[in-house]
Amino acid sequence: MKILVTGGAGFIGSNYIRYVLAKYPDIKVVNLDLLTYAGRMENIRDFIHDSRYKFIKGDIRDRKKVQQVMKEDFDAVINFAAETHVDRSILEADSFITTDVYGTYTLLENAKNCNVEKFVQISTDEVYGSTDKRSFKEIDSLQPSSPYSASKAAGDLIALAFYKTYDLPITVTRSSNNFGPYQHLEKLIPKMIARALQDKRLPVYGDGRQVRDWLYVMDNCEAIDTALWKGKPGEIYNIASGNEYQNIQIVKFILQTLKKPESLISFVPDRPGHDRRYSLDTSKIRNLGWRPEHVLKDALRETVEWYIRNKWWWRSLQADKFFQSDTSWLKRKHL
Ligand code: NAD
Ligand code: TYD
Repeated sequence: MKILVTGGAGFIGSNYIRYVLAKYPDIKVVNLDLLTYAGRMENIRDFIHDSRYKFIKGDIRDRKKVQQVMKEDFDAVINFAAETHVDRSILEADSFITTDVYGTYTLLENAKNCNVEKFVQISTDEVYGSTDKRSFKEIDSLQPSSPYSASKAAGDLIALAFYKTYDLPITVTRSSNNFGPYQHLEKLIPKMIARALQDKRLPVYGDGRQVRDWLYVMDNCEAIDTALWKGKPGEIYNIASGNEYQNIQIVKFILQTLKKPESLISFVPDRPGHDRRYSLDTSKIRNLGWRPEHVLKDALRETVEWYIRNKWWWRSLQADKFFQSDTSWLKRKHL
């Protein structure tokens, strides 16, 4: 079995490669990654010398490069490669449109010409937009709010069109917010852990009552693998654990775990277009036999401990302006 993983030097992609190398003794994995600010050799250094694994530096928007990589025969392509941070997309959406839309198209076009047997497009719950009460099903319409989620929605729809028009065996997964080891400090949970460890203020957007359904990254990896091998072509699978919490509850839990005071919390002006609540109906992926195995609070505690043990991994990321500032970027552009 040979798979092409794109974006495998990022947070979820690197965890997914770690997961499949441990699960399948005879697997071969090729990782195509541009190594943007989010893709890091530090994420893949524990398996870089594994003989079943090969790294190729390259851009999914580069048609020739993708064509050359796909000359090797792959049983499956799993596309994790994307620009992923909502705040960055608000400031500058260019690379979101080119990578998440055009890059996805480039992969699909080449996969079509190479008769790839399975193609999993990794997407997000954010494509559905916000919901007050109900949980979204896969058939619901897409109402993305940010340039990030809009570009992911476009990528999904192009992928599904390739199934309908060319019979390319596409499966789309839409997961909720992930957390766990190797997540960049720009995202809520690692940012709050790393800042609290240094007694820096924790910037909570708006009233902090926005709800996210937190999913431990290894549970997502297992769900993606389930969708890959058991999912039907042309189908979409929502993935979430059912752990819906307000941001402020997550931040307080991190502070309790670290034995730090709540006085570190600082409410700051809200993100423009901020979705209030994401919620997914996951009965479809559960009907394929998947269940989340991790208990949220235990996994969150282990994640906090991972960041404490692995300061070497995140020390250099502290220079990133999205880790350092709270909303100075917001004031400059929008207020
Ligand atoms: P990430 O930002 O940590 O990693 C993205 C990876 O893609 C990096 O390694 C980067 O170098 C690579 N990349 C970016 N542009 C590229 C290009 N043009 N060519 C080749 N490689 C490129 O992202 P993540 O959090 O691991 O997310 C992975 C996927 O999962 C994304 O598609 C994202 O939309 C989706 N997703 C993420 C979450 C989450 O909570 N993190 C939730 C739902 C869905
Ligand atoms: P984030 O990790 O950026 O993921 P997403 O926007 O894709 O859901 O943010 C998660 C939630 O945390 C979101 O509601 C925004 C909020 N948030 C803050 O309140 N403060 C912060 O510094 C960050 C980065 C996020």
